[in-house]
Amino acid sequence: MSVGSEDPALPAADLLGTVYLVGAGPGDPELITLKAHRLLQCCDALVYDSLVPTALLELTPVDCERHFVGKRRGHHSVPQPSTNAVLVDLARRHRTIVRLKGGDPFLFGRGGEEAAHLASHGVPVQVVPGVTAGIAAPAYAGIPITHRKAGSSVTFVTGHEEIDKGRPGVDWQGLARSSDGLVIYMGLHNLRRICDELIAGALAPETPAAVIQQGTVSGQRLLVSCLGELADAAEAEGYGSPSIVVIGQVVLERVESCAPPPADVEMPIPF
Ligand SMILES: C[S@@+](CC[C@H](N)C(=O)[O-])C[C@H]1O[C@@H](n2cnc3c(N)ncnc32)[C@H](O)[C@@H]1O
Repeated sequence: MSVGSEDPALPAADLLGTVYLVGAGPGDPELITLKAHRLLQCCDALVYDSLVPTALLELTPVDCERHFVGKRRGHHSVPQPSTNAVLVDLARRHRTIVRLKGGDPFLFGRGGEEAAHLASHGVPVQVVPGVTAGIAAPAYAGIPITHRKAGSSVTFVTGHEEIDKGRPGVDWQGLARSSDGLVIYMGLHNLRRICDELIAGALAPETPAAVIQQGTVSGQRLLVSCLGELADAAEAEGYGSPSIVVIGQVVLERVESCAPPPADVEMPIPF
């Protein structure tokens, strides 16, 4: 990413540390990349979120400066401008800063906003992609999210849209007609409305659907149902965050025996 300091209060880029936006994967600590592992072992400072596996924090050097900027149950999350300010401040004082984010940093993780903020302040920034929950959680349940016979297209979509009247919301009815499969992040809260919209968009109520809660770690749960009954079933069985919702014929292609056992670790910091 090109840099050029627009902030006269900051040192030149070659005097600033580099911030690495690193994907921590979905929970199983073995699902991080070799590059992420190497950076964690040598970083001077670490800034991390709620869904980051605790085992990864332990890879950092003992004198690594650590900052938690996620959301804990019953507490507000750290506002994004504060996180941005912490990252710029750390870049002034350290050489290697890891900004560790659950899953992939550029998929529903505000990684794009942080990269743009850092670049606009002249801070060198690099992204290290991660394994996203929308692929890993279905995989650990044995569900292929595309399939030659059952799904040639898949859409990753958020079910928790920012309330911003200046932007159009997700066109669920359009998605019902245009995508064979849907992988929905943060979808449980609005699940009933989402399912109704998809049915209004001409998806049959019998369309196979699944919810995977706490994918890849102990406590992983799988609910297999259909679009018309999914919201009731998820509510009755007490499904909660973090969960991935999969909708489409691919759910029927589930091969239970191929699913790896979830890692024997707890979800790090519950919402
Ligand atoms: C803010 S988004 C971050 C997504 C992340 N950047 C990624 O690529 O996986 C958080 C949402 O991801 C999903 N999620 C993250 N980890 C999960 C897991 N282990 N099992 C199921 N869903 C998960 C949930 O929908 C959760 O509400």
